[in-house]
Amino acid sequence: MVLDDAPASTDVGNRVFGDRLPLALRFVEHLTTSGVERGLIGPREAARIWDRHVLNCAVVAELVPDGSRLVDVGSGAGLPGIPLSLARPDLGIVLVEPLARRVEWLREVIADLGLLVEVERGRAEEASTRRRWEGADVVTARAVAPLARLAGWCLPLLRPGGVMLAVKGVTASSEIERDGAAVRRAGGGQARIERCGSGIVDPPSTVIVVERVRGTGSDRARRKRG
Ligand SMILES: C[S@@+](CC[C@H](N)C(=O)[O-])C[C@H]1O[C@@H](n2cnc3c(N)ncnc32)[C@H](O)[C@@H]1O
Repeated sequence: MVLDDAPASTDVGNRVFGDRLPLALRFVEHLTTSGVERGLIGPREAARIWDRHVLNCAVVAELVPDGSRLVDVGSGAGLPGIPLSLARPDLGIVLVEPLARRVEWLREVIADLGLLVEVERGRAEEASTRRRWEGADVVTARAVAPLARLAGWCLPLLRPGGVMLAVKGVTASSEIERDGAAVRRAGGGQARIERCGSGIVDPPSTVIVVERVRGTGSDRARRKRG
């Protein structure tokens, strides 16, 4: 597989992944071979995996405090969770994904790369997922759901003061306009937009940042049940 964006890989890759660049390139190899064959990545995406997917996700690390416990909701082919783990070995990461064949692929790839990343088969909003992974410092989600639904799924997984990072595209500001009130009802503060990876990816990655400022609907339901 020849990557259209391969020339960028060494310079920029060293800056982002340091001595883990070979592992990042091996992840690209998994995505472009078994990832495509097993339907986790569209065949048309294969040639632009490096910029559009791996770097675009890894640069979100700019928004993640040192040593964070991070839950990646709807990880699919490990995006953004695996690039974040490769760029930032200080993070404790769990990938939450409901589809069995994706979970199987993720576990194989994580074992091959030798990463300390956990995989939870389940949906973010399920009680079992919440019980196991609540109290996270950071929850990420990329291409999973509209902002209002994401807030309802992700904010209950955060500790108060933790942040949800929703990796979005051009829809970011209109989603905030449309869903800002729903985000606040779900326990979030004022959503804002950050751009990550200037000089590394073009365009920079657009991320909606929401802090958990209050108890969430799931806390209230739990209190009611006693
Ligand atoms: C379009 S894919 C995006 C995958 C990856 N985040 C990316 O950027 O390529 C959406 C993923 O979210 C997962 N998903 C959908 N609903 C979910 C939920 N309620 N909780 C966790 N994951 C969910 C799907 O199974 C799918 O793998």
